[in-house]
Amino acid sequence: MRPYSIFRALFLATAASLLLSCDKGNEDFIVGVSQCSEDSWRQKLKEELEMATYFNDGVTLRFVSSNDDSELQQRQIDSLAASGIDLLIVSPNQVDPLSEEIDKVYDSGIPVILFDRKTDSPKYTAFVGADNYQIGNMLGHHMAESLGGRGTVLEIGGLVGSSPADERHEGFMDALSHYPGISLAGFENGDWTEEGGEKAMARLLESYDGPVDAVFGGNDRMAIGARKAIRKAGRGDSDILFYGVDALPSADGGIRQVADSILTASAIYPTQGTELLLLALDILRGKEYARETTMRSSIVTHANAEILLLQHEEVVRQSDYLKMMHLQAGRMHDSITLQQIIIGIVLLFLLVIVVLLFFYIRAYRQKTLLNEILQEEKETVERQRDELEEQRDKLIELTIKGQDEEEEDAEQSVGKEMRRDNAFLQKLTQIIEQKMSDSEFSVEELSSELCMSRVQLYRKVKALTGKSPVEIVRQMRLTKADRLLSETSLNISEVAYSVGFSSSSYFTKCYRDYFDRLPRQASQN
Ligand code: FRU
Repeated sequence: MRPYSIFRALFLATAASLLLSCDKGNEDFIVGVSQCSEDSWRQKLKEELEMATYFNDGVTLRFVSSNDDSELQQRQIDSLAASGIDLLIVSPNQVDPLSEEIDKVYDSGIPVILFDRKTDSPKYTAFVGADNYQIGNMLGHHMAESLGGRGTVLEIGGLVGSSPADERHEGFMDALSHYPGISLAGFENGDWTEEGGEKAMARLLESYDGPVDAVFGGNDRMAIGARKAIRKAGRGDSDILFYGVDALPSADGGIRQVADSILTASAIYPTQGTELLLLALDILRGKEYARETTMRSSIVTHANAEILLLQHEEVVRQSDYLKMMHLQAGRMHDSITLQQIIIGIVLLFLLVIVVLLFFYIRAYRQKTLLNEILQEEKETVERQRDELEEQRDKLIELTIKGQDEEEEDAEQSVGKEMRRDNAFLQKLTQIIEQKMSDSEFSVEELSSELCMSRVQLYRKVKALTGKSPVEIVRQMRLTKADRLLSETSLNISEVAYSVGFSSSSYFTKCYRDYFDRLPRQASQN
């Protein structure tokens, strides 16, 4: 694999792993939830919404609760909208004080889902809630039937000005209108709380001391409060029918109260947080959605309360199981994220190593290439130098040829001459031996070492050996090299350098020309 390919592969792997660790799958949305009250019904809704986010990554819920205070809810909606939410889910505490505030949010471009309670404006994206008129109506009929069409009824309505209070009352009254034997002897508004229900009933009893056959509470808590007030007032409560709305399955909820005969009946007022969140996501993702969603309700009586509680237990088990799975998935997600970070770091580290390796290999290659070029240059220079020396020798030879013929060296005696010649040759070989390893060593230098001109040297050497000084120097170099090759363990280039060749390829050429074989053959012997 070429360094480029490794580099590219690692780069892609790193990028992929980093991308993988960044991929969240979905867009991120912030959903603001403005609740009007703090009670177990609202708590249940909150838990369901939170649970729904387990299956819908990228949704952040921002909850606020105004505890039945409309002015506080106005301010909370205001700051929620300013905090950069993408959608608002709101249960307006009362219609009048909150309609304008919610209109403003809608007008600013933030989608608004009205949940459970309404405003008096068409400025909302979607509405989800049960049919409160139908709930009041259903309970009215059930009560009238249970009374056998005759009796006196008291009603504690929900918070003044909140839409479910008005709608439930309307439905209830319409149902009673079908039973001429039934009369509504008194009506008071509560505030959806048990305490408020108790107080409202106490107020009613102050002005009414007639018979009471049934009580309709706007919700279960107020019905319980009303029952307490009746008992506190010293009126018998055991023969009175008590009706409420909500029918929560919790330990202190309406279903348990019906099962325990504290309430006669209640109507399920569904929370359905999961559906609510899915609707919010459909709106945010630009999908199709229903503008009005009516959640179904049903009556809870002593006959079905226990079954409903059993079913609820199963639902709780399942949701506990889901919560546990969510926790485990969270832990797994964390460890995968950690692994991705580690892999990313390792890949990054490898990438750095590969990049360094890549540059190192490139520099090494360039260095080798430069060495080769240098070597070739050296060889050329060396060869040219030798050729030059040889040509100079030839020139000298030509110049001195004529003179040699004329000069008769008759005066000198043969013996004296021979001794001098021997001494000269000894000196000559000694100098060559000493300087042999110096590749710069030239015939010019040799002649100056011997205190002679180059021409004199040439003449003398040629006369004594029949060879030119260049040939003598080369011959001595090659003879020594041959000896070193066969007697020592030096390799060819080491031998070449030690006898004054700076280029081993040029050495090989000269060696082959002289010995008619390759240096390699000598070193094998
Ligand atoms: C919860 C609650 C319920 C009631 C509903 C009416 O806050 O008071 O008990 O049914 O709101 O909006």
